Amino acid sequence: MKSVAVVALLLGFLAISHALTCTEAPRLFRMRNIDAGQGQVVATDLHSRAFFLSGQSWYRLGTFAMNQVSVGPAGTWGVDRSGYVYKYIAGNFQRASTSRMRLVDAGGNGQVVGISTSSVASCLPSGSAAAYSGRGNLGFRGLRAAMLDYSCGPYGCWGTNRRQQVLYSSLSPTNCRASWRVIGGSLATITVGTDGSVYGVNRNGHLFQRIGVSRRNPLGSRWNYIRTCTTIKNVTYDLRNLWLQTTSGFLLQCRV
Ligand SMILES: *[C@@H]1O[C@H](CO)[C@@H](O)[C@H](O)[C@H]1NC(C)=O
Repeated sequence: MKSVAVVALLLGFLAISHALTCTEAPRLFRMRNIDAGQGQVVATDLHSRAFFLSGQSWYRLGTFAMNQVSVGPAGTWGVDRSGYVYKYIAGNFQRASTSRMRLVDAGGNGQVVGISTSSVASCLPSGSAAAYSGRGNLGFRGLRAAMLDYSCGPYGCWGTNRRQQVLYSSLSPTNCRASWRVIGGSLATITVGTDGSVYGVNRNGHLFQRIGVSRRNPLGSRWNYIRTCTTIKNVTYDLRNLWLQTTSGFLLQCRV
């Protein structure tokens, strides 16, 4: 009852501040990571179970323990507790790589990017990612940048490092050639949607959107602070839906 009242209060505040129109999304208890792409929403919990959202419920995705999952143009990919990378094939995760990753991202133009367990930004070319059907081992290529978070969209990839700097790289999906630039701003985590939208959260739990991102201007022009009713831990975006993990453990779904 108490939590219902709190949510009502939060949503009420949102409505008054005209910040964002949000509702509380179906709750996944002890959610660890969430990623939206291609109309799908996938997540993991602290017990390393993978889920997908269907209507108002979360359902198990595959039978293997996954620490993190991602869905996008490259398909559905995940990382297990040891950092091994899996691709979702024929209704379950199949181990695809001996490279050890902390995070993979299936957004972008068909490539899969990741961050290795030693924090190196890495990439799997689009050809190998698409063709992989469960045989053999895929090799990720190191991209010579130390990163904490890394996410790709149609106009390039955005990442954050340990100093909370924001980095942008154009990335060739076929051969993983990347060139890095430091962008102004300070963010802890960052996400890029399949339409190119870029959102990030800083260490104080404040939400920002990169304004003016387009094919012609992939870096955009500035960060726009978006007021939220509560502090945010993480964000993912797909098809005008913004999914906000709050620091207090709620999941908000906001139409933008
Ligand atoms: C946000 O989620 C991404 C993966 O979905 C992860 O790499 C990153 O560490 C998370 N950030 C925080 C602050 O939890």
